[in-house]
Amino acid sequence: MQIRSKGELMIRGINSCGIATDEAPAAAEEEPRPSTPATPIILRQPTGNDGAALHRLVAACPPLDPNSLYCNLLQCTHFASTGIAAERAGELVGFISGYIPPAQPDTLFVWQVAVAASTRGEGLAKRMLRELLQRPATAGVRYLETTITPGNAASWALFESLARDLQAPAERQLHFERARHFGGAHDDELLMRIGPFKSPLADDTQAPEARGSPLT
Ligand SMILES: CC(C)(COP(=O)(O)OP(=O)(O)OC[C@H]1O[C@@H](n2cnc3c(N)ncnc32)[C@H](O)[C@@H]1OP(=O)(O)O)[C@@H](O)C(=O)NCCC(=O)NCCS
Repeated sequence: MQIRSKGELMIRGINSCGIATDEAPAAAEEEPRPSTPATPIILRQPTGNDGAALHRLVAACPPLDPNSLYCNLLQCTHFASTGIAAERAGELVGFISGYIPPAQPDTLFVWQVAVAASTRGEGLAKRMLRELLQRPATAGVRYLETTITPGNAASWALFESLARDLQAPAERQLHFERARHFGGAHDDELLMRIGPFKSPLADDTQAPEARGSPLT
């Protein structure tokens, strides 16, 4: 559908996250570049240019809590080395925000994982997690932590699958509580801690303790 906006002809479309987007019109002779499941997905470190698209992606991925756009910009810049963007045909279809907590230099804390609805079930979330664990920035990481609400089956399945792949133990415990921490306005958040595992960058002689028991 085409609409007039600010005196300029714009194309109003729906991106892969189901979000309305305004884009400058393509040149008449330019071939359309439809995004299909066959289009390869590129993984890369985020930049400040991803902030607005990340904000829209998170909004389209309930039950994720939306953050301010400014917070998303910090995730894409200050924490770029522990974040990952997935792009298909120029559109942001996946993102993981994370950081290494200052008091836990051996731990990658995964803040949010978002995969556009159109791109789910292709293994993208796990691919992004594995790629993050192969970054130089995470070479010293032996544990992965994240918090998950009890009812988020997809998220539990994702991190349990990762723990199996890493052959690492996984523990869960109540972390932020509905009444005490959220004032009743949010479900409990359980902390899932995976590890120790061997860094994918380390050689076989390192971290012998990394071979843990299966997920219990
Ligand atoms: C959770 C989410 C990131 C998964 O993304 P995805 O790319 O579809 O996940 P993957 O394809 O990598 O799947 C990884 C594993 O989780 C399993 N899984 C994924 N979604 C699932 C679901 N809805 N129900 C059950 N299992 C699921 C897959 O079967 C796979 O298991 P396997 O490796 O044993 O085969 C995506 O559904 C999403 O963005 N949801 C909304 C936001 C959210 O809840 N984020 C997580 C909290 S931070």
